[in-house]
Amino acid sequence: MSATKTNIFITGATGYIGGSVFQRLVQHPNAANFNITALIRSPEKAKFVKEKFGVNVVEGSNADLDKLTQLAEQADIVLNVADSDDLAAAIALIQGLKNRHDKTSVKPTLIHTSGTGFLVDDARGMFATDKIYHDSKPEEIENGVPDSALHRNVDLAVIDADRKGWVRGLIISPPTIFGMGSGPLFDSGLVNKHSLQIPLLIKISLARGKGAGVVGEGKSIWNHVHIDDVADSYIVLLDAVLKNADAVPHGREGIYLLEAGEHTWYDVSKAVGKAFVELGLAKSDEPN
Ligand SMILES: NC(=O)c1ccc[n+]([C@@H]2O[C@H](COP(=O)([O-])OP(=O)(O)OC[C@H]3O[C@@H](n4cnc5c(N)ncnc54)[C@H](OP(=O)(O)O)[C@@H]3O)[C@@H](O)[C@H]2O)c1
Repeated sequence: MSATKTNIFITGATGYIGGSVFQRLVQHPNAANFNITALIRSPEKAKFVKEKFGVNVVEGSNADLDKLTQLAEQADIVLNVADSDDLAAAIALIQGLKNRHDKTSVKPTLIHTSGTGFLVDDARGMFATDKIYHDSKPEEIENGVPDSALHRNVDLAVIDADRKGWVRGLIISPPTIFGMGSGPLFDSGLVNKHSLQIPLLIKISLARGKGAGVVGEGKSIWNHVHIDDVADSYIVLLDAVLKNADAVPHGREGIYLLEAGEHTWYDVSKAVGKAFVELGLAKSDEPN
């Protein structure tokens, strides 16, 4: 490990988001100055990533908390992309970064993956709320989002560690991500190339056997963003930290809500219904 290189530790490198981010890391113009370490739980995937990309690979899972702490302690920047909701893993990473800070007095960076699920209300598809949150106004999130909201417990742990000065905490919050993961990692067939929400809607609709499903009347409005834009966002933040870390909003001001447009869930279900009709899987495209 060279002292002049930036040590980057990534979790979730074999996932939909993490794989897309990982590939950008190894293809980064400054990749020669990065010392990249990935924690991968599957021996088969670990072998592939090590051989294909020549990075440091440690076999292990989020349950190996000591390993997470040790690996974070060696990192200047941690990208936590495995699981937005694994509080124990996030605390283990924060502990490692705190240890590093205690030893070096240099503040390391944690780029944590959350999700705009913390903004979900109780509309159940029956109405579209007028409340719009802005990541430039952290007080809106602090005052409007309960601590019990989805993902929020982990986000609060990151914000708390940032407030205590142990880490520079950046929280990337994607909404519905669309598009397929692409590149050699995904071409291997070993790595998940699908997103969560719309594929889940399709699977549930098929299992139900009544055409495209919809929650309530589908009036809820949600944001979306392409997987490539999500992955680019991590690199934009990484580059900003490497250029001038002190200038990058962090902690309570470091929640980055990604979005490139919005949809109603009715429109998504209608599109799924149309595809079902075209494929002979349903007689009507009307969501129900
Ligand atoms: N996709 C979206 O639209 C979206 C939007 C907002 C937030 N998120 C959140 O972002 C996170 C990542 O999402 P994703 O779509 O990239 O998921 P994914 O495709 O399932 O990838 C998850 C990655 O993390 C690894 N992982 C999961 N649990 C692990 C554990 N206990 N120990 C070690 N590695 C573990 C997986 O390893 P394996 O390869 O071994 O499975 C994989 O590399 C999730 O928490 C998700 O809720 C997703």
